[in-house]
Amino acid sequence: MRKTSTAFALLLLAGCAQPIAQPDTATQTATAPQANAASAPASQSADPEMDAFISDLMAKMTLDEKIGQLNLAAVGFDVTGPVVSQNVDENIRKGNIGGVFNTFTPVAARKLQEMAVKNTRLHIPLLFGYDVIHGHRTIFPIPLGISTSWDMDVVERSARIAAEEASADGLNWVFSPMVDIARDPRWGRIAEGAGEDTWYGSQVAKAMVRGYQGTDLTKENTVMACLKHFALYGAAEAGRDYNTVDMSMLRMYQEYLPPYKAAIEAGVGSVMTSFNEVNGVPATANKWLMTELLRDEWGFDGFVVTDYTAINELVPHGLGTEAEVGALTLKAGVDMDMVGEVFLKHLNQQVKDGSVSEADIDKACRRILEAKYKLGLFEDPYRYTNEQRATETIMKPEFIEATRDIARKSMVLLKNSKQTLPLKKTGSIALVGPLAKSQRDMIGNWSGAGDWKQAVSLEQGIRNVAGNGLKINYAKGANFTDDKQMIDRLNAHGGELQIDTRTSQQMIAEAVKAAQASDVIVAVVGESQGMTGEAASRADITLPGQQQELLKALKKTGKPLVVVLMNGRPLALQWEEENADAMLETWFAGTQAGNAIADVLFGAYNPSGKLTTTFPQVVGQVPLYYNHKATGRPYGGQMLDKYKSRYMDVSNEPLYPFGYGLSYTTFSYGKPQLSKTSITPTETLEVTVNVTNSGNFDGEEVVQLYLQDVHASVTRPVKELKNFQKINLKKGESKTVTFRVTQEDLKFYNTDLEYVYEPGAFKLYVGTNSRDVQEADFTLTK
Ligand code: BGC
Repeated sequence: MRKTSTAFALLLLAGCAQPIAQPDTATQTATAPQANAASAPASQSADPEMDAFISDLMAKMTLDEKIGQLNLAAVGFDVTGPVVSQNVDENIRKGNIGGVFNTFTPVAARKLQEMAVKNTRLHIPLLFGYDVIHGHRTIFPIPLGISTSWDMDVVERSARIAAEEASADGLNWVFSPMVDIARDPRWGRIAEGAGEDTWYGSQVAKAMVRGYQGTDLTKENTVMACLKHFALYGAAEAGRDYNTVDMSMLRMYQEYLPPYKAAIEAGVGSVMTSFNEVNGVPATANKWLMTELLRDEWGFDGFVVTDYTAINELVPHGLGTEAEVGALTLKAGVDMDMVGEVFLKHLNQQVKDGSVSEADIDKACRRILEAKYKLGLFEDPYRYTNEQRATETIMKPEFIEATRDIARKSMVLLKNSKQTLPLKKTGSIALVGPLAKSQRDMIGNWSGAGDWKQAVSLEQGIRNVAGNGLKINYAKGANFTDDKQMIDRLNAHGGELQIDTRTSQQMIAEAVKAAQASDVIVAVVGESQGMTGEAASRADITLPGQQQELLKALKKTGKPLVVVLMNGRPLALQWEEENADAMLETWFAGTQAGNAIADVLFGAYNPSGKLTTTFPQVVGQVPLYYNHKATGRPYGGQMLDKYKSRYMDVSNEPLYPFGYGLSYTTFSYGKPQLSKTSITPTETLEVTVNVTNSGNFDGEEVVQLYLQDVHASVTRPVKELKNFQKINLKKGESKTVTFRVTQEDLKFYNTDLEYVYEPGAFKLYVGTNSRDVQEADFTLTK
């Protein structure tokens, strides 16, 4: 057991003006310190020592000091919202701030921490948060890319390394994982999550929390994670960021809430609210969400922070004046106000006039102090500010190697006709496209403290991997877009876009010339990183600008056309699928992007990634996801069949289904064998399937298991992912994969929102993606 109280007292005596027991009257506010209800926690936590310590501390706190703990300030750069906290130094000294974000390095963090610990009356340390989204300094592929590895060790490793670096860099709190289920590729933030599937998203959520928090939050190399955005942010209407969400409870429980719940069960320390409304009440003021569901039903015992100025934004949402919405959110279950300073401005007065109770403030304050305690900050506020550890840890060779490996594993081979890939390291390639030489885009959007100048461009990667035997004929071929306003906007937010002032005809002509002089074309096309992420919704999800025109001209040369895609969302790639000889989805692959992509292109790594989001044929099909319902008039493929659930101008099929991804080798599947055709609720069904590597390369395959509840009291999806295994098979090798199906896999929410299984017929599907499966039937008896 840790001796926090003693350690804190010693620290205060050694480094600070006043120990806790002797308040410094000079820094006191009008409200006199008084013992109050705060000396007893609302409910006992599992740690009586922590409870006692915090009760002691809170008994000494003034109302203003408690309110100060509820205030999270942005230190000044990298801001994502319209407001930046003012007078941060002064506010820290006054005890008006409980935590800061957007600053890092051990030196900067120590400076601010000293400011808090040495100057405030009770010497309470600050939290240091940051948006560590896909790596801190060593940048990994964007989260959507990490998810396409279908490898939970990879997911956890990326978060672990991010935590190692962030904690060495002065931080103790990361605003990740984002676990919002997203089925609309127009939404720019689909890039930040794990895709469309509930069960898969839940596995990723748990792995991320494990990676960040480890098993002991007080360790100097772990950080507190912050689950976001609670809740349903990914379901914004029309894929437009911050837009309304209105959803049935059944869908919410069944499809959207499980990843949040999984992260809570994995012990995530904090939760961030979302900007959207949920069925008429904005999430940030939604008592049902934050108190009844999150705390009472799921047992969450950490703290809730708002998203950036989300309390203030309740005013335009139409919920009342700033003061009113502040009170509303506190009562609904918010503990910490990010940047908005609504709590700071109004709560003291509201306690005085009786519109807010001090008990509500105590509750929130206690949760924030508990987080600090759990991080070991009272024991040592400078735990995360060791410069030597920073030097030894940040971007160490092992992490650089890891990101290259993780990046390779995240890539998805979408097409490979006539074995166009892998490429030979001899002869010549035409390397064209606006992303071919880009370094900035490699680390993607929201790349934490990553430095794009340290990222490897694809051109450099090809040189590194292929060596001097390969001639590269480079031409840019196209700008990202010809939309000047879009370029200005991207550059205003760090886009670093160099615009070629030649006409698109001139640029395309140059690329065609390069193609004609080469054996094969590698066209590196897609989005610039700033076209994805927050506030980057797109209504047209085809390749922007003249990039498709470029591909069309290249195609006419008759040379093999390899399309390397970089993008943060599913794109509509109908023409590209029909015309490219090979197509590799690389997302924005991180610090080692160029090397990792070249590893795949030249066969040093055989791609094994699988999509976690459906790719539509055209944007009009979205939202399009594999685990949809059947409808009463499912379309069976007969063109003349009019009264069916379908479009007149495009089929219901996606371009690439969920779970899809090719390899340089091929895998053949035997029929799935079931241990029984009928099980009771307490029995386990064993499913075995034989998978053979039937091609010419060693490779990895993601064997996927889906279930369908054929008859139930509520309509059920046509299939749902319930398990997968990623296996390694040498050329010619076979393996038997075994899955176990239990009653847990058969459960769903009924109309009373009870999580139940219902006896009856089930179908089971095993295959290489959600579409190409073999089925078997079984029954669940009473
Ligand atoms: C985003 C959050 C982020 C926060 C702090 C907001 O705009 O929605 O995901 O954590 O800013 O930077």
